[in-house]
Amino acid sequence: MSEKIVFLNGEYLPVEQATVSVLDRGFLFGDGVYEVIPVFGLKPLRVDEHLQRLQNSLSRISMDNPYEVEEWKRIFDELLERNSGDDRAIYLQITRGAHPVRDLKIQPENQPTIFIMVLQVGAVNMSDLEKGIETVTIDDFRWHACDIKSISLVANVMLREQATQSGVVDAILIRDGYVTEGTASNLIMVKDGVLYTPPTSQHLLPGITRDLVLELAQENGVECEVRQIAEAELESADEIWLTSSTREIAPVIRLNGKDVADAKAGPVWKIMINIYQQYKQELRQA
Ligand SMILES: Cc1ncc(COP(=O)(O)O)c(C=O)c1O
Repeated sequence: MSEKIVFLNGEYLPVEQATVSVLDRGFLFGDGVYEVIPVFGLKPLRVDEHLQRLQNSLSRISMDNPYEVEEWKRIFDELLERNSGDDRAIYLQITRGAHPVRDLKIQPENQPTIFIMVLQVGAVNMSDLEKGIETVTIDDFRWHACDIKSISLVANVMLREQATQSGVVDAILIRDGYVTEGTASNLIMVKDGVLYTPPTSQHLLPGITRDLVLELAQENGVECEVRQIAEAELESADEIWLTSSTREIAPVIRLNGKDVADAKAGPVWKIMINIYQQYKQELRQA
């Protein structure tokens, strides 16, 4: 099967036939939310947690959830069956739909636009991942609603571009002297064998991968502490990781031109990435 089938407003269609109005509030205002759910085999990872975060995002922007949890899962299964592939991701977005008049005011009678596609992300390549990524710190100028997985990503795009212009892969964002997250990832710092990550707040997205890594670490006897991380602490960190659904656990090997963990993926990362791969493998076979 080579044709890419997507879901749009209740229908399964070839991607070329899936079209949305130019008056859609997602297009005009970025008025919508999204989720990215990794899939291994036919098994979505932490699907209940992703759907709970979707519910939180929708509630935060005063939108009703168009489907019950079981209905979402049925649609995901159907879409995965209709598209080939192994290691993939489900991308879903819901916008507030089209209205004839361009007006910020919410029109409660509007039908949402519900779009889902399968991303062919491919398996994470361990030797590429192990090479690590170079980063810089950048002032986090985003809004006080970063806990919403909003499709309005222009600030994240600008921050990523600032990192690119500095010649590195990503930025570690700093608000008022403390770490928030990456441009599309959460941050975990390792010091003396303990994992540290900032608490969830309106200044960062509650990452599903972050939570999973913390959970797996604790199950395997690795100590974790959720607390604010001052920017200055990063300089003396033993290891720094960026976590996300698509990147999994990426070791940071340089920060602001200085080596982190001797510019190599660190020993705690090696333990955690193996545990994470094992978890994925079990999910695939479940
Ligand atoms: C801003 C931001 N923070 C954190 C994350 C990590 O979230 P997750 O682990 O659920 O993919 C993402 C993922 O896209 C993100 O965009």
